[in-house]
Amino acid sequence: MQSGRFFSKFVFGLTGLITALAPVVVHAESIGADYKVHRVADMFQPLSRPAEMIHEGALLVLLICLGIFSVVTGLTIYIVVRFRRKETDNDQEPPQIYGSSHIEMAWTVIPILITVVLILVTSRTIGEIQNMKMPEDALKVRVVGHQWWWEIHYPDLGVITANELHIPVSSRDPEKARPTHLLLQSADVIHSFWVPQLAGKTDLIPNRTNELWLEPYQTGVYLGNCAEYCGTQHANMLLRVIVHTPEEFERWVAQQKAPVPEPVTAQQIEGKRLFFAYSCMNCHKIGDTVAQGLFGPDLTKLMTRQTIGAGVAPLNHETLWRWVRDPQDLKVGCLMPDMQLQKHEVDDVVAYLETLK
Ligand code: CUA
Repeated sequence: MQSGRFFSKFVFGLTGLITALAPVVVHAESIGADYKVHRVADMFQPLSRPAEMIHEGALLVLLICLGIFSVVTGLTIYIVVRFRRKETDNDQEPPQIYGSSHIEMAWTVIPILITVVLILVTSRTIGEIQNMKMPEDALKVRVVGHQWWWEIHYPDLGVITANELHIPVSSRDPEKARPTHLLLQSADVIHSFWVPQLAGKTDLIPNRTNELWLEPYQTGVYLGNCAEYCGTQHANMLLRVIVHTPEEFERWVAQQKAPVPEPVTAQQIEGKRLFFAYSCMNCHKIGDTVAQGLFGPDLTKLMTRQTIGAGVAPLNHETLWRWVRDPQDLKVGCLMPDMQLQKHEVDDVVAYLETLK
C-alpha cells in the first residue's frame, strides 16, 4: 500500500517535471529568407541579456532542486526496498522509537539553509534585472495590452503598430549594446508579456506601468504570447518580436512613417468610401484621415504586418477577406463584430485595406 502510493506520487511528480521542462512549441509560418523564425519559444535557449540572467539563476535553482530530488527519492527507494515485508516476518509490531533531537535538528536546519540560498539566488537575479539603468538613448516602446491584441507605440519615433514589435539587435559588447526599454500598460484586464528567449514574463496591469527591457543578440523573429489568462481569446493573443540590424530597423521606421498612398482604382476608392461610411473608423486609426479610433489596432500600415488577428493567421488576401467578412470566423469572441457586409462590399473594403502599406 505504502509503496504503491509512493510510486504513483513519484510518477505524478516526474510527469510534472517533464511537462515543466518541455519547451513551448509555437507553430509559425515561414516569412522569407531574411528572417530566421526562432520557432521554439524556449526559455532554455536565451538570446537576450535579461533572458540569459534568468537562465543562469534558473539553472542554479534547478540544480539545487535536482540534488534534493535525488536525495529524497534515493532514500525513499532504499527504505522501500530495505524494509519491505519479508517471508520471515512475524506479524508483531516492531519496537517503537520516538524522537531524536539530532535528526530533527538536521531536517529543520538544512531545509532552512537551502531555502535561504534559493531566496538569495532569485532575489539577486530579480534585483539585477529590475534595477538595470537604461541608457538615455535606449529605444522606448509603450506596449498596451487589449483583449486580445497588443498596441505598440514608439513615442520618440511617432510610429504606432500592433502585435509585431520591431526592434534593433543589440550586442554582448557593452559599447555596442542597444537595449529596448518597454513600458507595459493595459487597457482592460491583466495581460502578461512573454517572449521566453528575450526576457522574463512581466504583467500588464490596468492603472499601472510596468517596465521590461530587451537586448537581443541575434536578428530574427521571436515568438511570444500573452501569459496571463485574460478571456476567451487569450490563447490567440500572440506576439512577435522582429529583431533587425540597425540599418534594417531604420528602413522599417522610414517605411512606417512614409505617407499612406491614396487609393487609385475605382474599387479601392469605393472601399475607402465604405470604410468611412460604416463604423470602421470609430475603432481604427488610419494615418491622418478622419479615422482616429483607438479601440482596435491602428491600420495605417496594415499590410506591412506578417499576421492578422494578433497572430491567429498569416496576413494575406484570403485571411484579410475572411476577417472583414466576419471576424468571428477566424477569432470567435473577438471584440470586432460581424459588420454584415455584402460580398462585393467586402471585396471593395479589402481592396482599400490592401493599399495600406
Ligand atoms: Cu492577454 Cu492573456
